Amino acid sequence: MTSHNSRIAVFCSGNGSNFKALFEVIRNKQLPAEIVLCISNRSQCGAMEFAQQNGITTLHITEKQFSSFDEFACAMVEGLKKHQIDIILLAGYMRKVPDAVVAAFPDRMLNIHPALLPKFGGEGMYGIHVHTAVLEAGETETGATVHFVNEEYDKGEILLQRTVPVLPDDTPETLAARVLECEHRLYPDALEKLLTLRRS
Ligand code: GRF
Repeated sequence: MTSHNSRIAVFCSGNGSNFKALFEVIRNKQLPAEIVLCISNRSQCGAMEFAQQNGITTLHITEKQFSSFDEFACAMVEGLKKHQIDIILLAGYMRKVPDAVVAAFPDRMLNIHPALLPKFGGEGMYGIHVHTAVLEAGETETGATVHFVNEEYDKGEILLQRTVPVLPDDTPETLAARVLECEHRLYPDALEKLLTLRRS
């Protein structure tokens, strides 16, 4: 049970369009939450730029900055603690989150995946590969999934899912664009659901 605004860290590696959608919805719908930290394995990317322009603290952290993976994991946990993070949202983060971080945020870490999990998930299923696989399998619908993160790739409990049609003349790129648009509405809805669960 939480009574203060939930403090959110988003993890990104790229454009950060989901991050931007989350930021806008939190502001416009006045959800009891605040994005206070953007963590990235890249010092410069769309997400980090957006965070800097909007007064959100950024943390560029990669395994390479440390002498061991354990040290990297500890530093990440420390960074999250220092900013009193309640919820982690993975939004296009292209690295495995250390198990120590997953363990420190049970039921408080979400990821968005551009397909209807458990289909088209797991290692190697990211970005355009997902949409290519969906088309090759002859699916007539696909979608997006927001799920809790556990130690196994794309295997945590599903929180919210929404379908998107596959059209006969779709290419992986046109399908990716339609799914991404769906993600921008789905992720904020899933966050709202998580916040409600945490307040009940
Ligand atoms: C999204 O398709 C998301 O599902 C996947 O990575 C992509 C990130 O896009 N995990 P963006 O950086 O939010 O624009």
